[in-house]
Amino acid sequence: MSDNPYSTAVLAWYETHARDLPWRRPDADAWSILVSEIMLQQTPVVRVLPAWEAWMERWPTPAHLAKEPSGEAVRMWNRLGYPRRALRLHACAVAITEEHGGEVPDDHATLLSLPGIGAYTAAAVASFAYGQRHAILDTNVRRVLARAETGIEYPPKTQTKAETALAETLLPPVASVAARWGVAVMELGALVCTARSPRCADCPIAGQCAWRLAGKPAYDGPPRRGQTYAGTDRQVRGKLLAVLRDSPEPVAKTVLDTVWDDHVQRERALDGLIDDGLVDPLADGRFALPG
Ligand code: ADE
Repeated sequence: MSDNPYSTAVLAWYETHARDLPWRRPDADAWSILVSEIMLQQTPVVRVLPAWEAWMERWPTPAHLAKEPSGEAVRMWNRLGYPRRALRLHACAVAITEEHGGEVPDDHATLLSLPGIGAYTAAAVASFAYGQRHAILDTNVRRVLARAETGIEYPPKTQTKAETALAETLLPPVASVAARWGVAVMELGALVCTARSPRCADCPIAGQCAWRLAGKPAYDGPPRRGQTYAGTDRQVRGKLLAVLRDSPEPVAKTVLDTVWDDHVQRERALDGLIDDGLVDPLADGRFALPG
């Protein structure tokens, strides 16, 4: 087995262009990397940075978090969005503490068995925290591979087996190199091979990129989902949760009712939060973050 045709150039580029992010430093432990990966899945780096710092300061180990009610995780999640991730991270901390002696497991199958850890996160933690050889496929990596290898501007909406197989064939044979390749290709997608305005002039593999060599054909697949937020239930849920987060006490329904005019949508959003376990309806009619 030899290294893939891009790895030397991409790894050299990463050496000089990578952002200095705290979860990538040599002293970052597996827990801090796990927290970063959950936060980064649906939130941009600039918003994750302060939240991650505060989280790690308060809960430097899984046991610290496991001791607290899950509602504290939701409170700390603040405005990162998709707050079910906070509950999953809390459940994960409890499982690590109770079933794994407080240490983040180092093998992929055990990581995958933890609550809230999917194939991507298991691979990312095994690779970035423990230097193992796993294919890492996040949206940035999928886009780079779609362009460089497949010659299309955007990957399919949902990940295919072909993409996983491709990522595996591209993995450098030596584990430590594979781990660095994973984060390097991710960074290339984040900084250069961006979704809307790729900077091909700055790309270390522009000369090998199938999409660029084909003249950057326009995307002709199904419409890509926009990230609309205003007016959605997600926005209403965010407003309801913000009230509960900012209140040290449980909150009366009349207070929650002030956050959004549309009664039907407001009730639907509140019901959804309760169903998801993010809000506790108390016996006295008030509402609180989960205990
Ligand atoms: N570095 C390591 N994992 C990352 C991620 N998911 N997003 C951005 N930078 C990262």
